Amino acid sequence: MQTRMLTAFLISATIAVSADTRAQENAVSRNSEFQSSVVAADHWAASAAGASILKQGGNAVDAAVATSFALSVVRPASCGLGGGGFMVIWDAESRKAVALDYRERAPAAADRSMYVKLDQQGAAESASVRGASAAGIPGNVAGLCHAATKWGTLPIKTLIEPALQLCRDGVPVDEHDMEVQASVLEKLHENPDYKIRFELLLKQYLNDGTPWKKGDRFFSPQRPVLELIAEHGASGFYAGPVAESLIRLMQQDGGFITAQDLKSQIPAERAVLQGSFHQDTVITMPPPSSGGIALLQTLGALEHWEQQNGRTLRQLGHNSADYVHTVTEAMKHAFADRAEYLGDTDFVSVPVDRLLSDPYADSIARKIQPESTLPAEAYGRFFAASDGGTSHFSVIDAAGNAVACTETINLTFGSFAVVPGYGIILNNQMDDFSAKPGEPNAFGLMQSAANAVEPGKKPLSSMTPTIIIRDGKAVYACGASGGPRIISATLQSLLNFEVFGMSPQQAVSASRFHHQWFPNELLIERSVDQNTVQTLQSKGHTVRGSSSLAAAQAAGKTAGGLMGGSDPRKHGIPAGN
Ligand code: GLY
Repeated sequence: MQTRMLTAFLISATIAVSADTRAQENAVSRNSEFQSSVVAADHWAASAAGASILKQGGNAVDAAVATSFALSVVRPASCGLGGGGFMVIWDAESRKAVALDYRERAPAAADRSMYVKLDQQGAAESASVRGASAAGIPGNVAGLCHAATKWGTLPIKTLIEPALQLCRDGVPVDEHDMEVQASVLEKLHENPDYKIRFELLLKQYLNDGTPWKKGDRFFSPQRPVLELIAEHGASGFYAGPVAESLIRLMQQDGGFITAQDLKSQIPAERAVLQGSFHQDTVITMPPPSSGGIALLQTLGALEHWEQQNGRTLRQLGHNSADYVHTVTEAMKHAFADRAEYLGDTDFVSVPVDRLLSDPYADSIARKIQPESTLPAEAYGRFFAASDGGTSHFSVIDAAGNAVACTETINLTFGSFAVVPGYGIILNNQMDDFSAKPGEPNAFGLMQSAANAVEPGKKPLSSMTPTIIIRDGKAVYACGASGGPRIISATLQSLLNFEVFGMSPQQAVSASRFHHQWFPNELLIERSVDQNTVQTLQSKGHTVRGSSSLAAAQAAGKTAGGLMGGSDPRKHGIPAGN
């Protein structure tokens, strides 16, 4: 990757960042094929923000940082400054990868029984889900500033400018915004005190309760904080007036984050997890993500299944009953292990090597019965929702560097708590811990003591940013949003590309299925053939039709150049040069 010094001469030429937002809106096309570089995000303006930075000479990390800041503005229900994320980066020159972990941490005052005690007060929703008490220490700004400084080539001011432009010009609301607004307004109606308690969310993000209509524009209230970050870097968020306002909100709404907590939020560079599938190398996110381990574990079991049975997944046929059954069975073992073993490896020991070993993959493959599913206990001994507050994007630049990045505030609009004066929506990532022992979290996931709340610990995540390397080059960067469905959607996007030779756009658009072992039901998008569903029922699966499962984005190499795939389920559009 080019260094900051080598590209310093570019910087002065790049201050006039992007065309006016309205001009870009008119130029947006459904084209997803590009010559030299591509960004696939779940909103056209975020893809365009990254592409404009690539056009100015920025590399894949610069583009990722600009895309992420723009997403804070245009997908505020999904991710943003008040959340956290994971970034997997491939450096084409050194042929090395690194994983950046900027997930939220539990505040120092947190303890493993805090939510049991708080919930005895009988609130409608758990204190791990709603209000300032649900927030972990935000990591996004620290992570993005670290990535830009260490691996980027352009100043943070330049990388934030597209997001600021979107604040100034506003963005037209899209179908996703309308769907999200309707569902969140319903929640506010169900809980009468929420309209007062979360007044800023209602006023600043939900059009004060008036349904969005086509042609409306959304103006983000985050401009003041983005300007402070552009000026001062991460300290524009973690110190000074923004930090003071955040702490005041904590004190008023029963939260736990202190000024000291904010200072302690430092991102971690981690070694990527690496596995193989067929002839390719798969690099993905280590703990505190569970997604990387579950993905590699499932791929390993499927490869062993092919060897043991002398048949390929391709021969089964895409989304045939046998294909869905085989992939589901492999996935259920991975989810059962997720429930039992996984947590933040800075705090607990996770048997990563054993879970990813060849003999273990072989033993899982042997348990897959062609004609029937197994009783739930056969997958693991520890018994353990739609696209929530998460967003994934993928970037490949002209030099072949790649970034797969997933960011989250957990549920849609996170905790609903908004930092006064700055419009920062605080995450509710504390619910990704085993917040209440023995009870599933908001995604229906059961988790063990390995994921119990501890001060400074990071909750287990399903985010699975992943890059495929073929012959030393990044050929596919992928990932998804949607809680535990991230793992199954990323797996299927990868299999669609690897096994069925689909383009990135086809790979993220194709019908999907999901099984997380507990609850014991196989979710299948309604577009899947009904005969397939009946055959799966005859194998013992409890099948439930679903309208849409997760939202996936991918960037990949094609015969003609590069292609971005933005999931039609979330109405994204890729951009490139
Ligand atoms: N909050 C969703 C995840 O990290 O998996």
